[in-house]
Amino acid sequence: MDKCNFKKFVVKWLVALTIVISTVYAQTGWERISLLGSGVNLSEWLEAYWEADYPVWEKYKEEDIAFLKELGFRHIRLPVAFTLWTDTVPPYTVDTTIFLLVDSVIQWCIKHDLRIVISYHHGRLGDRGTAEFPRIMASWRQIAYWFQHTDPEYVFWDLYNEPHNIAHAQWQSFVSELVDSMRQWLPDHTFIVAPADWSGIDQLDSLQPLHDPNIIYTVHVYRPFLFTHQGASWAPCTHLTGYPFPYDPARMPEADTIIWNNPFCAHAYTNYPLWATVSWLRTHIEKAAQWSQYHQVPIYIGELGVYYKAPYADRLRWLHIVTCTADSLNIPWANWGFKYAESSFGFVYGGIAHRENIQPRFMESICLLGDSVPVHTFKPSVELPVKQPFSIWAYDLWGRQIKTKISQRIVKIGQRGIIVLK
Ligand code: BGC
Repeated sequence: MDKCNFKKFVVKWLVALTIVISTVYAQTGWERISLLGSGVNLSEWLEAYWEADYPVWEKYKEEDIAFLKELGFRHIRLPVAFTLWTDTVPPYTVDTTIFLLVDSVIQWCIKHDLRIVISYHHGRLGDRGTAEFPRIMASWRQIAYWFQHTDPEYVFWDLYNEPHNIAHAQWQSFVSELVDSMRQWLPDHTFIVAPADWSGIDQLDSLQPLHDPNIIYTVHVYRPFLFTHQGASWAPCTHLTGYPFPYDPARMPEADTIIWNNPFCAHAYTNYPLWATVSWLRTHIEKAAQWSQYHQVPIYIGELGVYYKAPYADRLRWLHIVTCTADSLNIPWANWGFKYAESSFGFVYGGIAHRENIQPRFMESICLLGDSVPVHTFKPSVELPVKQPFSIWAYDLWGRQIKTKISQRIVKIGQRGIIVLK
């Protein structure tokens, strides 16, 4: 190779390398999580399989998205019962009518600059267990193929809402296989993965981060369950209402035989004084941040919320603690519920999204941080401005030393890590 050709060869390789590096950089969950901020689940719609006239096409419209944007939210989560649209026998063909509906919501979100998390809701693991794996896999492959041209900076995929009735190890290997197979069509999209056993924070320890840097991990916050689900007909032992937050013995409803005869309910009732406290709830959410810090992977609260039958002032207090704690830890979140506040987890009365229909003091209660507050903007790594040998310490916001990964001069920073150089 002569000198000139060698130069060309080197330049070519440098360009190729730059492209590879920048693609890899764009593909990290860390980079994308800073786009989510505060959000809202567009619930009671494409997941509402129990409604006689499912799906009600016009229930949500473009103006709803514009309204959420105007309120300061930065993303929506769209729960979709894809399983209702998927054949029950191989090759498990998905009826693409649902794709058209989802497509229009994606277009609205892009137009109004809101990110969208699409969640695979009400899958059939609960009653079919591992027998359902091939069907989930097949429907996701069709979803991935259909949506391969969507903008990965806007569209995120939540692979399975609240997986349950499945062992952690089985879930772990299935979900990594699912991610690998979807990468064929969605190489640059961010996937969202929950731990098995209903996506609880306490279940995170049973989940190992996958070997794919472009994943955000997700949990749901509904603790204490007797408080957030009081009066909900579909949940166990939630027939009593009036549970206070924080715990107040004078206002506590008296347990009946339904509670005492069910071990889950008796346990939840007995522990209510401990769990329904501000400090317990904060510590609970901090556990998610610690898991994220420890594994150096991003975390997202895809659902949090309180059913409308809870005492209203208590509900606002709970929302305030949970959303502000999440914000202080740089964890993005999405309220479960939007419209139909009179019968759901939502905060807007009726089906029309107008400011005057927002529940009183709701917006003040949630710790909604708009674009002007750079709380979610952290970088996944920094290049240190030093050439000499150095020592490095990283501390969290409480001054505790935290784990960091150091490779040469590039240091990864966790969601709440700050760096002190010596
Ligand atoms: C479920 C909803 C339920 C909500 C609160 C969601 O994950 O899909 O049906 O209302 O959690 O329990």
